Amino acid sequence: MLEDFDQISVELNVRFSERPMSPIMAILEMATMRQAAGEDIVAFVTGEPDFDTPVHVKEAAIAAIHAGQTKYTSVHGTLELREAVRQKFIHDQGVDYAIDQICVGAGAKQLLFNALSVTLSEGDEVVVPTPVWGSYGAMVKIAGGIPVKVPARAEDGFLVQPEDLERAITDRTRWLMINSPNNPTGAVYGRQDLEGLAEVLRRHPKVMVLSDEMYEKIIFDDKKFVSFVEAAPDLVGRILLVNGVSKAYAMTGWRVGYGAGPADLVSAMAALQSQSTTNPCSISQAATIAALTGPQDILAEQCAEYQSRRNMVVDRIRAMPGLSCQAPAGAFYLFASMAGLVGKSAGEHTINTDLDFVRYMLDVAKVAIVPGAPFGAEHHFRMSFAASQSELSKGLDRMAAAIANLN
Ligand SMILES: Cc1ncc(COP(=O)(O)O)c(C=O)c1O
Repeated sequence: MLEDFDQISVELNVRFSERPMSPIMAILEMATMRQAAGEDIVAFVTGEPDFDTPVHVKEAAIAAIHAGQTKYTSVHGTLELREAVRQKFIHDQGVDYAIDQICVGAGAKQLLFNALSVTLSEGDEVVVPTPVWGSYGAMVKIAGGIPVKVPARAEDGFLVQPEDLERAITDRTRWLMINSPNNPTGAVYGRQDLEGLAEVLRRHPKVMVLSDEMYEKIIFDDKKFVSFVEAAPDLVGRILLVNGVSKAYAMTGWRVGYGAGPADLVSAMAALQSQSTTNPCSISQAATIAALTGPQDILAEQCAEYQSRRNMVVDRIRAMPGLSCQAPAGAFYLFASMAGLVGKSAGEHTINTDLDFVRYMLDVAKVAIVPGAPFGAEHHFRMSFAASQSELSKGLDRMAAAIANLN
């Protein structure tokens, strides 16, 4: 029996000692447990479209299974997929990458992880404009690096300013990790914003740019997405673009991300991946080709729907006393301040921190949202509006009622 064995405590390597479990997953787990126990919890937690994967994409996957595309492929994917990615970058970004500059992994997350793992040595620094998606800091640390937070202030529309970037760069800086449209703030960098940052980077030729463009296709008010390579084509040799199908085509579970960058970096990333997961799932690759090369009208339809939800959520949150927010220009998150509720209480709940607020919402309003602290922004919370309008309305009604009970 299991009890008869000695239990040893497993020694984790020093880089993993913090056990960087995603706090978003932790909250989701809490909400799921309570739902399983019969509680009616409305969850606005995960970064995942509520739409279904398009039918033609699913059909391409089924056809691939029947055609026997069920074997290993090249590490960075089939040539057909890499060609589809190449065409995507020509079409959308106007950059013609060679096939050996294109990388494909099991989600954009794997590509970010690969890039950091093959480039960072112990103590190297990575500049992360903050608020920031928590996985950046965790991945940098696991790779032996040090995340250096640089403020992307609310008063600047959550966009990092060139002078702050300049101040953050040292001799140890290897990367700037930039994400537009941004998770969690929804900020979108325009051409001039990126040109300002590029100007700083030209003075620091050793610093590379990891441009995470995952939410490229979710952008509002007819704003045009500008990639870092479009704003600074002369820096193309030190930019790694990272993108994927998870958010644009509602394909989070298929696990395919793609990117492009310098061939030697891409080849090192392939070497690492070849010793870990090898290629992304062959069937998901076939689905991704269909997503990238098939009809694209679904993108505009989904964007219009997200925009109408955003408008509703922004209006409702702004009408709640103690909360305030900017309207996100892209992605599907609202990043709001709850600073106006600090010091208020109801029953056993006193609100001092964003975590207190999130607990109050979960316990009393039965609404699951994410605190700002894991994104490096206290007194904030993130709520995803990748949920139906009726679900959003229900959750917002409950939030308003719970806030009205605070004294
Ligand atoms: C900014 C950002 N980059 C990358 C990812 C990862 O996407 P994938 O599903 O392709 O791993 C996410 C997912 O939440 C994200 O928010």
